[in-house]
Amino acid sequence: MTERRNQPAIRAEGLTKKYGDRHALAGVDLEAAPGTVLGVLGPNGAGKTTAVRILSTLLRPDGGEAWVAGHDVRKDPESVRKNLGLSGQYAAVDEKLTGRENLYLVARLYGMGRHSARRRAGQLLESFHLEEAADRASGTYSGGMRRRLDLAGALVARPVVVVLDEPTTGLDPRGRADTWRSIQELVAGGTTVLLTTQYLEEADQLADTIVVIEHGRVVARGTASELKGRVGGERLSLTVPDPSSRSTAADILAGLGPHLPVLDRRTGRLTVTTEHGARTLEDALGRLRLAGIRVRDVELAPPTLDDVFMSLTGQPDPARGQVAQPVGAVGGGEVPR
Ligand SMILES: Nc1ncnc2c1ncn2[C@@H]1O[C@H](COP(=O)(O)OP(=O)(O)OP(=O)(O)O)[C@@H](O)[C@H]1O
Ligand SMILES: [Mg+2]
Repeated sequence: MTERRNQPAIRAEGLTKKYGDRHALAGVDLEAAPGTVLGVLGPNGAGKTTAVRILSTLLRPDGGEAWVAGHDVRKDPESVRKNLGLSGQYAAVDEKLTGRENLYLVARLYGMGRHSARRRAGQLLESFHLEEAADRASGTYSGGMRRRLDLAGALVARPVVVVLDEPTTGLDPRGRADTWRSIQELVAGGTTVLLTTQYLEEADQLADTIVVIEHGRVVARGTASELKGRVGGERLSLTVPDPSSRSTAADILAGLGPHLPVLDRRTGRLTVTTEHGARTLEDALGRLRLAGIRVRDVELAPPTLDDVFMSLTGQPDPARGQVAQPVGAVGGGEVPR
């Protein structure tokens, strides 16, 4: 292997890229140790695909440097490509060819002989659970099957670094779980994975380290638990089924501490940050009962990556598109940190 021990499998320093006068990347640093998953998390337009394209030598940065498996993306793109497997944001499969033919073709393009190419295609079809569909045109595949075929294509040459741009966007829960499992198996075998995602849950499940980017800048980095720890406190949440009681309930929760509750108007779910966990919970339930407000599904939980995202960007999880808005009913006007 060309990869040396102790040196990051992926490293980028100060990457910048402008389109016209818009900064797609405004100085991004990334680092992934060998055999780990680096999650790059960010909303639409954050710069994820731009970073992926630079690392996979499809795009030259305006500034900054990057290395993949120890090779400079600018000075030695050939070696980078030899060590890297890419699965782009939109699955790139030839619809007229079968799944098996697609993989065989990729293997041949990587210079494998006919026999090895056939064997490698067979192995990958098996590990991505595509055997049954292997011999029909991939144009007939579901979105999830295409995605898995594309992912398999990225692994044909057994790259030491794999870059996956939103590998599960558009997949159903089953397809997502299958993909997660494939990624975990890959990493267990020593591969380094950079994956971009809009799903906080995905980064939480898979990534050893997470970099949150927004408008081409890194707004946070760390492990999932470090990021959650930063938000501090716990989350008290409960559902108020009766819409006419929700604003009173929000006022009551706002009166319990310095944080304003957030109401999801669609579901009636109220969430508030608290530093005094169980005591706040008791207080809240007592006051709500006195006010004659019925509640359901009461929960006290540590912060999630959703809360992290909220606190960093002032927006709820971009992938969910839910209308969680701070309720500006009472008190000092502080949006949950
Ligand atoms: N070829 C291009 N020409 C002009 N602007 C571009 C081009 N590619 C990307 N951009 C802009 O650069 C910014 C970053 O885009 P990028 O595709 O990297 O975001 P992303 O994080 O991958 O978003 P998404 O989640 O939607 O895939 C966006 O503002 C986008 O409009
Ligand atoms: Mg993208």
